[in-house]
Amino acid sequence: MPSQSIHSDPSTEAFLHDVVSGLQREQKEIPSKYFYDKRGSELFDQICELPEYYPTRTEMEIMRDSGVDIADKVGAGRLVVEYGSGSSLKTRILLDHLEETAGYVPIDISGEHLEDSVAALRQEYPGLKVHPICADYTSDIDLPSDAEGTPLVFFPGSTIGNFTPDQAVDFLKRSAELVRPAGGALVGVDLKKDRDRLEQAYDDSEGVTAEFNRNVLHRMKKELDADLETDAFEHRAVYDEVRGRIEMHLVSLSDQDVCVAGEHTFRIEEGETIRTEYSYKYNVEEFAKLANAADLNVEDVWTDANQLFSVQYLSAA
Ligand code: TRP
Repeated sequence: MPSQSIHSDPSTEAFLHDVVSGLQREQKEIPSKYFYDKRGSELFDQICELPEYYPTRTEMEIMRDSGVDIADKVGAGRLVVEYGSGSSLKTRILLDHLEETAGYVPIDISGEHLEDSVAALRQEYPGLKVHPICADYTSDIDLPSDAEGTPLVFFPGSTIGNFTPDQAVDFLKRSAELVRPAGGALVGVDLKKDRDRLEQAYDDSEGVTAEFNRNVLHRMKKELDADLETDAFEHRAVYDEVRGRIEMHLVSLSDQDVCVAGEHTFRIEEGETIRTEYSYKYNVEEFAKLANAADLNVEDVWTDANQLFSVQYLSAA
């Protein structure tokens, strides 16, 4: 099954298809999963260390401070299944607290990045059974047949916020299927807070996030032979308070025609934007409703002292 091997990144055809259909929309858009090739994954790791980007630091602090409690809730003998595992930094904190972990299934869209992080993890945790899958976790994924243990879905980083609420419910429903009857899900959820703090987290002073956003343009040039200049677009992140989401856009700095793969030309006007990402923020009550809509029950919520971020344990009710 090629889509499940560690070496197969999503195909160039899929990328082309999604770019062409996305650029035909009234509000142009490109799915955020295309940020993450090797370079994009590395830029994302840099974002996680920025002073403005509080989520990673805060989530790791919560996991350390409440690690014993979390492990108690999760239970022993789990098969940890992580969607969008990246460099598996938070996983290490979880693994350090869990008892008798049956195995770890890291799922990531960037094959190269996954290979590197699995190699490092195997060295640090020689006894751990690691079953990597290179895949887009929004597609259906079968657990490896040789993986044992009651599954725990691990979905940190507030990646759940990168879905629309409807998509998030669908995703949680599929997670619930996977873990039923005895398992659960440990989900990192970013909390609502003031606009300034949010917007700075997605528009840092060093411009790393801007470079990360523009990485999708680099990939279009390299992989889809798009004739565009990456600096003809500027990064923008705005918080829509009504919808409770950060929106990330690439803003065109001039009227331009972008030709993709030599045959699809798109007119992009000055000031017109390509939307690349949502990052929804929830309060604890809102997220509980979302979980309920997926037949999951929030059993525990851990937060930091400033209520910036939450780690939540959901069980299949
Ligand atoms: N899950 C992360 C978030 O929503 C993803 C993310 C962080 C991100 N910074 C970004 C995505 C910048 C695109 C651009 O916080």
